[in-house]
Amino acid sequence: MKTQVAIIGAGPSGLLLGHLLRQAGVDCVVVERASPDYVLGRIRAGVLETVTTDLMTRLGIDARMQAEGLVEAGFNLATNDRLIRIDITALTGRHVMVYGQTELTRDLMDAAPDRDLTVIYEAGDVALHALESDAPFVTYSKDGETHRIDAAFIAGCDGFHGPSRKAIPASAVREFERVYPFGWLGILADVPPCHDELIYANTDAGFALASMRSKTRSRYYIQVPLTDRVENWSEERLWDELAARFDPISDHQVTRGPALEMSIAPLRSYVFETMRHGRLFLAGDSAHIVPPTGAKGLNLAASDVAYLSDALIAHFRDRDDAALEGYQDKALARIWKAERFSWYLTKLMHRFPEDGAFEHRMQAAELDYVASSEAMQTAIAENYVGLPL
Ligand code: FAD
Ligand code: DHB
Repeated sequence: MKTQVAIIGAGPSGLLLGHLLRQAGVDCVVVERASPDYVLGRIRAGVLETVTTDLMTRLGIDARMQAEGLVEAGFNLATNDRLIRIDITALTGRHVMVYGQTELTRDLMDAAPDRDLTVIYEAGDVALHALESDAPFVTYSKDGETHRIDAAFIAGCDGFHGPSRKAIPASAVREFERVYPFGWLGILADVPPCHDELIYANTDAGFALASMRSKTRSRYYIQVPLTDRVENWSEERLWDELAARFDPISDHQVTRGPALEMSIAPLRSYVFETMRHGRLFLAGDSAHIVPPTGAKGLNLAASDVAYLSDALIAHFRDRDDAALEGYQDKALARIWKAERFSWYLTKLMHRFPEDGAFEHRMQAAELDYVASSEAMQTAIAENYVGLPL
């Protein structure tokens, strides 16, 4: 098979890129290792910046999101007994939208056949070849046969564990990493949220987040040691922890219900600065990871894709390569700022095992300062709502 852009991975980055290219008349094919149900079974992000919602609107795949998504004008930082509301709309004139990554992915998947976007699911042994030549290609196996896709460019949208980043030779690589000494234990349940807006809490028992997917579906997380296992947690024990942390500060008591999903995600900051190698371009989690505090992961994938799609379209439509040449620098400038904000909020809101009484007082003093300073609240709000493209 021959195409203009071979896209590896059908997560949010790969599907958004595929749709944007097809909308502009650029040929592309998406190759995905997993099945559609597996991709949709991964419960991940819940908060969308306008960078992300604007791309869905540009594609005209936003009807369900506009109807079902919740517009959030603010969110809260909290301590044991105090809620500090960050009024995003008053401070920035903008808002974020609560709409799950699963729903966004489903909308992009459902729209693919009508828009002539080919997605090959359950492709095994995906490998990248001849990246430094003018004729790169991708191979994969399916139904017992090996297939080959020849392309002008390859887009590596295959997440943190995919093959694209690993195809770049070590001599060309620049990478930066920080691993945190805890993870997030998450629960999804069909119960009303305990508060109208998200709460990120730094309590004596550790970090906790009260989020939602709708008025009837809640998503909660608590900080757990890296050594913890989800099997160590009964649903009742987790609900007890959530009630202890949120009941003193939220509008309503935490409502309990059967878990639709429970899992532990590790926290990491990671930037792979080599986002272009020859004919390969990386976008999304294949090139960077942020800790989830601040809800930047999916939104950063969307901003990469906004830059990369424009650059590829300029190449094919206008024979203009300036944006492709500038892709890495432009993307990294925004990525590092989102890395900074996610790291800052992670440091401010979690209990680090190595911290002592002094560091706790520093966190308390900073939160007290945030509560009293509009300048601090504005800085937090403009990062949370998303920096401009
Ligand atoms: P992915 O969503 O990872 O998609 C990559 C795709 O590539 C996958 O479908 C994968 O199956 C496919 N792939 C992998 N290997 C291959 C291969 N060999 N061949 C072909 N295809 C392959 N962000 C937030 O903002 N808030 C959150 O709460 C949050 N929670 C998260 C929890 C977890 C456990 C993880 C891992 C991430 C979380 N994130 C969160 C981050 C957010 O989900 C990601 O930033 C977002 O999914 C990035 O999209 P992506 O398309 O770049 O990567
Ligand atoms: C959710 C996840 C986040 O990482 C975050 O910062 C806010 C909300 C969520 O899953 O709802």
